[in-house]
Amino acid sequence: MTGLILPPGAGELKAPQISGVPKHVAIIMDGNGRWANERGLPRTEGHRQGEIALMDTIAGAVEIGVKELTVYAFSTENWKRSPAEVKFLMGYSRDVIRRRAAQLHSWGVRINWWGRRPRLWKSVITELEKAHQLTRENTRLDFNMAVNYGGRAEITDAVNQITREVAAGSLQAGHITEGVFGKRLYGKGTDVDLLIRTGGEQRISNFLLWQCAYAEFMFNPVAWPEYRRETLWDDILAFTGRERRFGTAQDKVTG
Ligand code: FPP
Repeated sequence: MTGLILPPGAGELKAPQISGVPKHVAIIMDGNGRWANERGLPRTEGHRQGEIALMDTIAGAVEIGVKELTVYAFSTENWKRSPAEVKFLMGYSRDVIRRRAAQLHSWGVRINWWGRRPRLWKSVITELEKAHQLTRENTRLDFNMAVNYGGRAEITDAVNQITREVAAGSLQAGHITEGVFGKRLYGKGTDVDLLIRTGGEQRISNFLLWQCAYAEFMFNPVAWPEYRRETLWDDILAFTGRERRFGTAQDKVTG
């Protein structure tokens, strides 16, 4: 899938200049299959269109000043889909990374992989690692691709890592803080500020369970293949109007 994606800053469309832009945005790119089926197309066509939506959204994230973007490309539960769709998604993920790594590099994006190794196609891991090597010095945007990712799997892996470190004597049992734990997660557990789910469903689907503790949730009915940088900017504008309290409270007597 090619398709012209205007690089950050190149188009007529300008990102709104606003304060309070979320540092870390996470997206559940949902609705590909339904979008395709409603148009008489196979589900895989929705995933193909999803690539354009993803690239445009990354450009929009760079333009508005998001520093970290994490997207759910393939979950640890997605293996339950039909063998044909799993095969397509694996091959397509590999091809998207291979096709787009240089372009993302030219935009100053660092590509990171969040997920579990077992079961994941070796060719997908190879492309993800190559893309990370190519882009590792970039600082404009951290783009985390969650592939073979599950929130519970990530937490379980961190627990196992900690037990190994305790057994080896490099960590002391009973001294595990939230900070110590978070550092054993992919991406060191940076908090998500805004979680967007497209496609109209309203659930978290095992995505970034730890990192979303204080995230604002935005459920956008737009199917992922139709999501664009302007949609992201609208969601971010709505986010800036939310009041985040992080557990605090204040009297605001009106009567
Ligand atoms: C969810 O829609 C989407 C996925 C499971 C795959 C996401 C893949 C892409 C956006 C393709 C391009 C990008 C990469 C990284 C390969 P769904 O299939 O669950 O849709 P539905 O809810 O309508 O069934």
